[in-house]
Amino acid sequence: MEKPPQRPLPAEFPGAAWYGAEELEAVTRVVRNQSPFRYYGTRCGFEAQQFECEFARYLASEPGGPWPECSGVYVTGVNSGNGALDVALDALGVGCGDEVAVQGFMWIATIAAIVRARAIPVLVDSDDTLNMDPEALRRAITPRTKVVMPVPMLGGCARIGAIMEVVREANRERVAQGRAPIRVLEDAAQALGAHAWGAPGSIEPEGPEGVYRVGLFGDAAIFSLQLNKDITSGEGGVVVTRDPALHQRVEALHNVGFGKDSEPAKHWYGDMPMGWGHGRRITELQGALARAQLQRLDTILANMRRSHRRFEDHLRQRGLTPRARADVDNPGDTGYYCIFQLPPGPADDDAKIARGRKVAAALDEWGLRPWFLHDFEVHIYYHVTQLVEKWPIANGCPWDCDANRFHASYDYGRGALPNLDARLITHVGFNTPSRLAPEDERHIMAVLDYVCETVINE
Ligand SMILES: Cc1ncc(COP(=O)(O)O)c(C=O)c1O
Repeated sequence: MEKPPQRPLPAEFPGAAWYGAEELEAVTRVVRNQSPFRYYGTRCGFEAQQFECEFARYLASEPGGPWPECSGVYVTGVNSGNGALDVALDALGVGCGDEVAVQGFMWIATIAAIVRARAIPVLVDSDDTLNMDPEALRRAITPRTKVVMPVPMLGGCARIGAIMEVVREANRERVAQGRAPIRVLEDAAQALGAHAWGAPGSIEPEGPEGVYRVGLFGDAAIFSLQLNKDITSGEGGVVVTRDPALHQRVEALHNVGFGKDSEPAKHWYGDMPMGWGHGRRITELQGALARAQLQRLDTILANMRRSHRRFEDHLRQRGLTPRARADVDNPGDTGYYCIFQLPPGPADDDAKIARGRKVAAALDEWGLRPWFLHDFEVHIYYHVTQLVEKWPIANGCPWDCDANRFHASYDYGRGALPNLDARLITHVGFNTPSRLAPEDERHIMAVLDYVCETVINE
């Protein structure tokens, strides 16, 4: 087979690849107004506030449909996804003595936020979506579970409907016993615009079973606006919830620690002390940029999904299996990254790892920005040294806190999640940029053919 030529591919950063006149105008508005702070300024344009309102409407919209005026979704823009996680866990009351159930394929920030909240992460195994397995979650829930954190990775959804049902089942018992219910915080940093099947609500279904945007199933969700995400303001984050009381806590905690109980509040930061504030405000520059980007989101997603589908079909024709979709009937996933399973191949793990590395190295020769998932840095629990070695924040906390001593038997090293471990050494993925021309797609498929022929099936 003839070796495909080299060809430069468009940038992998979906939102930034579309920066143009609208983003320039957005930033210029803020600069012209000399008002980069969201709450007041010379001529504050309240861009952040408008972004929050538009984001809520987008989340509440039917895929492809108009954005409703009245969303029922409360949104707080924050400075980053990390900031959003800190504030959300704090608002949910997570602390010493609590367990937070989380999948082992995530980004280090997810687990770092749990540990910084002085709680203990409990790893939950994955199913073929590579995300949280609802049945593994059922087994991982203990009386100490305070929050469950699914992480739809690389735009691919979990079986979130089934996850919510497992949580509702556990909560029926808790509520009957007068105990606090488990809450669900979706870390949807990488899945803005994805939609999945199920019924939202962690205690009772809060709507009929159906298609909802990722981020609306749990009690709260976070998104990131960092460069790699579907839309970007460089840095930035969002906390969403449908619960007005939780929203009030998020609003207070992300800022100075005061809730707003009157309109207008006497102080710009609110009047009612509710907790210790984090200092996680979003800027007007971020808000304005994010507004412009939100208008492009559906186009970005449509492009990524189209290319992604083509690559998946092509891989199937070559006898390879793409990562499972939680809901095959919907274009639910964002299409950001195309992951596929290698054939059974060698029996032992070392040989599988050597093969995975060889395949990724081959795809890298053409700049497909591949990852062999086993090597995917601190997206994988066993590469997070701080977790495996149980590093403390300070003074031994959270591991040495009396309320947390139960973790002694918890092991975070490779082997803790056998199903995920087995999948990581057999899966490879590559980026699906949002601006691929048909010739680019054909080129990528030719590269896949060549790598199949010369490396995968050699
Ligand atoms: C799953 C996940 N959670 C949280 C974050 C943190 O977001 P940020 O980089 O905006 O702080 C990221 C960022 O990559 C992420 O991928």
